[in-house]
Amino acid sequence: MSANYTFDVVVIGAGGAGIRAAIEAHLQGARTALVCKSLFGKAHTVMAEGGIAAALRNVWKEDGWDVHFRDTMRGGKLLSNWRMAQLHAQEAPDRVLELEEWGAMFDRTADGLILQRDFGGHRYARLAHVGDRTGLEMIRTLQQKAVALGIEVLMECTIQRLLVDDGRVAGCVGYWRQTGETVTLRAKAVVLATGGLGKAWRITSNSWEYTGDGMAMALEAGADLIDMEFVQFHPTGMVWPPSVRGILVTEGVRGDGGTLRNSTGERFMFRYIPEFFRAETADTEAEADAWYEDKKNRRTPDLLPRDEVARAIHAEVRAGRGSPHGGVFLDIASRRPAEYIKRRLPSMYHQFKELADIDITKDAMEVGPTCHYAMGGIRVDADTAATTLEGLYAAGEVAAGLHGANRLGGNSLSDLLVFGRRAGLYAAEYAKGRPKQAAVDRAAVEAASRRLAEPLERKTGEDPYAIHADLQEVMHTLVGIIRTQADLDEALIRIAALRERQTRVAAWGNRRYNPGWNLSLDLEAMLTVSEAVARSAAMRTESRGGHTRDDFPKPDPEWAKVNVVTRKRDGRLELAKEPLSEMPPELRDLVGEQAKPHAESTDMEATVPAGKPV
Ligand code: FUM
Repeated sequence: MSANYTFDVVVIGAGGAGIRAAIEAHLQGARTALVCKSLFGKAHTVMAEGGIAAALRNVWKEDGWDVHFRDTMRGGKLLSNWRMAQLHAQEAPDRVLELEEWGAMFDRTADGLILQRDFGGHRYARLAHVGDRTGLEMIRTLQQKAVALGIEVLMECTIQRLLVDDGRVAGCVGYWRQTGETVTLRAKAVVLATGGLGKAWRITSNSWEYTGDGMAMALEAGADLIDMEFVQFHPTGMVWPPSVRGILVTEGVRGDGGTLRNSTGERFMFRYIPEFFRAETADTEAEADAWYEDKKNRRTPDLLPRDEVARAIHAEVRAGRGSPHGGVFLDIASRRPAEYIKRRLPSMYHQFKELADIDITKDAMEVGPTCHYAMGGIRVDADTAATTLEGLYAAGEVAAGLHGANRLGGNSLSDLLVFGRRAGLYAAEYAKGRPKQAAVDRAAVEAASRRLAEPLERKTGEDPYAIHADLQEVMHTLVGIIRTQADLDEALIRIAALRERQTRVAAWGNRRYNPGWNLSLDLEAMLTVSEAVARSAAMRTESRGGHTRDDFPKPDPEWAKVNVVTRKRDGRLELAKEPLSEMPPELRDLVGEQAKPHAESTDMEATVPAGKPV
C-alpha cells in the first residue's frame, strides 16, 4: 500500500531548524509539509540545554555581532564559512527576540531583560536561556507556532530517498512507522533538516533518530558533503551508571561555576591551555576564581572550547587520573549554594538524583566526553541554504560550514533559527518560480519500495542490532577523539565488512511499529556517513578542532585553506580538497592576527598524549 501527497515545499526533520524552515515557507505562501521521523516535539534540539548564543548585549554592553563572529571563527579554528558566521552573528539577536514574541519564556535580568549566561569560547555571557531547558523551550515555542499556523505535520514518517528529475529534486519516498506503508511526497523544493549522525558512536548524547539520514540521502542524490571529519565530543556526558552513559551534562554547569578536577583533586585544565586562547584564559586558580565572581578577568580554562576540554579529559583518563568510572569530576557544589544550583540547573539536579543517586548540590558529578554533534555535513550556500542539487536546501546540524572544525556551545540553537528561516524562505521562493511539479520517477519509487521490503522478506540473515553495535564499537575505538592513520585504515576495512553484512540484514515480524526493521533500514545511512567521516579523517593529515590526529598533532596552515569534499559517483565515495572562499580583510581584522593570510597557526591546539578510548 502506498500513499502519495503533493506540496510546494517538504521539510524533512522537525527539530529547531526544520520547524523554523516550515514556518517560514508557510508564511511565504508555500503549501508546506513538515515530516517528523519521531513524534512531533521530540528532537535533539532539546539536548542544547544551556542556551541560545546571540549578542543581545543584555549583560555585557561590550558584546556585539562582531565579537560573536570573532568567537565563532576562532572556536571553529578558522575553518568556518565566514559568510555564514557573519550572517549568524548578525541575525541571531532578531531570531531570539522573535522566539520571545512567539511565547518563549526566558530567564530574566533584574531589569526584566533576557538573561544571558557564560559558555565555552564565548568572550561574554551571551547565552539566552531557560534554566537548563532552553532547547526544550525552543521546540515547545516553535511547535506551538507551527500548529497555530496550521502547517501540515507528517509524524512518525521516515524518509529514505530523495527523488530527482532532470538534475533537480522532485520529492522523496519513505514509510510510516505506524503501519509500515510506503509514502511518496512530490515537492517543488525539499529542505533537509534531519540533524546529525551520533548514533554511529557507542557513547553519544544522540537518541535513536540520529542516523545520518539527511547526509546520506543528499549524497545519494548527487549533492556534496564537506568536512565530515569534524565530529564534536561534548566534554561532559554522564559516565555512570552504564545505562545512562553519554547523556548530556550541560556546559551551563561550568558556565555557572562548575570546575573540572581529576582524581588527585587537581584542576587540570590549567595544563591544557593552547597559545591560541592564552591571552584570554586565566592561568592560575586564583585568577579563574576571580573571573567566576566578577567576570572581568581572563576566563577560566574550564570554559575553553569543547574540543580542548574533551581532549584534556581524555588525556587525564588515559594518564590514570580519572574518576572511578572512567571520567573526571565536575564540581559545582563547592562554589554555589544549593538554592542557586536547583534554580539555574533544575534538569541536572533531577537527572543526577534520579539516574545516578547523586545530589549535585553536595557532591561532584562524574563526567566524560560523549559524541554530540557533527560539524560536517551538506554543503550549502551561505545566504540561501541551497545545496549543490537544484531545489534541495539544508539547515541545522545536517548542513555544514558555520561551525568549521569545532562548534561553540549555544551556537547550534541560533544556527537552527537563522538558517532554518533562510532555508524556508529560499525554498519557498524557488518553489514559487516553478509553476509545475517535476516528474516523479516511478522506477525510483518502486526501487525504494522494494528496498523497504527486503529485510522482512529474508528468512535468515544478519541481525541489525549486532551490525549497529559493531559499527558503534568501530567508530568509538578507531574514529574517536584521537585518530591515527592505522586506526582509520582499520576502520575503513571494518566498515566495508559491515556494509557487506548489511546487504544480508534480516528483520523479524511485520511492518507495524517494528524497531528491528526500522533499524535495518537506517543502517545503510549510518554506514555511508561513517565511511565519509573515516575517509575524510584519513585525508586531513593535521589536527584541528574536533579532528585530532596523533600522527599529525599540529594544525597545518595549508589545511586551514580547504574543505574536504565528499561526493558519491558511480556508487563510490570520492573525496577532494577544495579551497575556502576568501574572507574580506575587514572581517579578518575582527578575527585577529591568526586569520591573516601569512599567519602560521601552529599553536592552536594543546598537545595531548595519545591512546585508545576507554
Ligand atoms: O551543554 C549544552 O547545554 C549543550 C549545548 C549545545 O550543544 O549547544
